Amino acid sequence: MTAAVLSPIVIAHRGASGYLPEHTLPAKAMAHAMGADFIEQDVVLTKDGIPIVLHDIYLESTTDVAQRFPTRARADGRFYAIDFSLAEVRSLRAHERLGSDGKAVYPNRFPADSGDFRVPTLAEEIDLISGLNRSRKRSTGLYVEFKAPLLHRSEGHDIAVAVLQVLHAKGYDQRPEQVFLQCFDDVTLRYLRHDLNTVFPLIQLIADPSWGEDSAVDYTFLQTAAGLDEVARYADGIGPWLQQIYLGRDAQGQAELTELVSLAQARGLQVHPYTFRADDLPAGIDSFTSLLALFFDEIGVDGVFTDFPDLTHDYLQDLRRHRVLP
Ligand code: G3P
Ligand code: CA
Repeated sequence: MTAAVLSPIVIAHRGASGYLPEHTLPAKAMAHAMGADFIEQDVVLTKDGIPIVLHDIYLESTTDVAQRFPTRARADGRFYAIDFSLAEVRSLRAHERLGSDGKAVYPNRFPADSGDFRVPTLAEEIDLISGLNRSRKRSTGLYVEFKAPLLHRSEGHDIAVAVLQVLHAKGYDQRPEQVFLQCFDDVTLRYLRHDLNTVFPLIQLIADPSWGEDSAVDYTFLQTAAGLDEVARYADGIGPWLQQIYLGRDAQGQAELTELVSLAQARGLQVHPYTFRADDLPAGIDSFTSLLALFFDEIGVDGVFTDFPDLTHDYLQDLRRHRVLP
């Protein structure tokens, strides 16, 4: 027997990445044990077209690629995953994320110079989650992001088709309720919905325009009523940056909120904002509990991406026991 997923949902962002290096299999097992409803996979392709679970299109921030293959950077100094075979990627040691200064982005997390971690394939990660679902009698789902579809296309790869083939091979066509697909690029989501006729729910991610995401979409327009009307034609929800919902505090100390959540939910779109981190709170928020209370109790989002699935799961359990969700 498996438990039905209640809303709002806990999405383990890159696994239990507050505790173990992001997108490693131990971080995914830990997220499963912590009660995440869904576990996120950011996906890029190797040179030989294999979907691997990696946040960046580059390898150097989370692996030892620069030491292992020092001559393989492109002219911009970056080590592109698409330039490496799966066998080469498998030989790398994965570690806690480092910034461009070589220091850990989150210095109080798992030590970056410690541990024997690898970059998993999407298939390997699905096998781990499916196995844990069986042994733990759970139905923890997958939340797969297509990274940089335009870059992959320019390199001769169709990342959407490659991912769907893995999901099909693993039997997920028969249980679409255990999958969300997400992308910052609207063209890829429309392609999935209208050309590939995917059975899986689709989430339109919304970036800040300054981030330079791999898409020509207008993220400012997407946050308007007209933009959300358009999104509702091909997607089932949105994944906004949490600071597109909470802007900060006004002079009286009141939270300044946008209308994005109500506009989206009025159009039948689920809202799953990112990223909820206990060690990196937005300005004007004094604790992780306060952040969760604002988004769950006051705003009423349908789920959150979090590096701390245990704290988020426990908060929701308490909320369900003692209070009424909006
Ligand atoms: O996909 C939701 C959230 O993970 C988006 O941010 O950059 O961590 O993939 P990112
Ligand atoms: Ca992501």
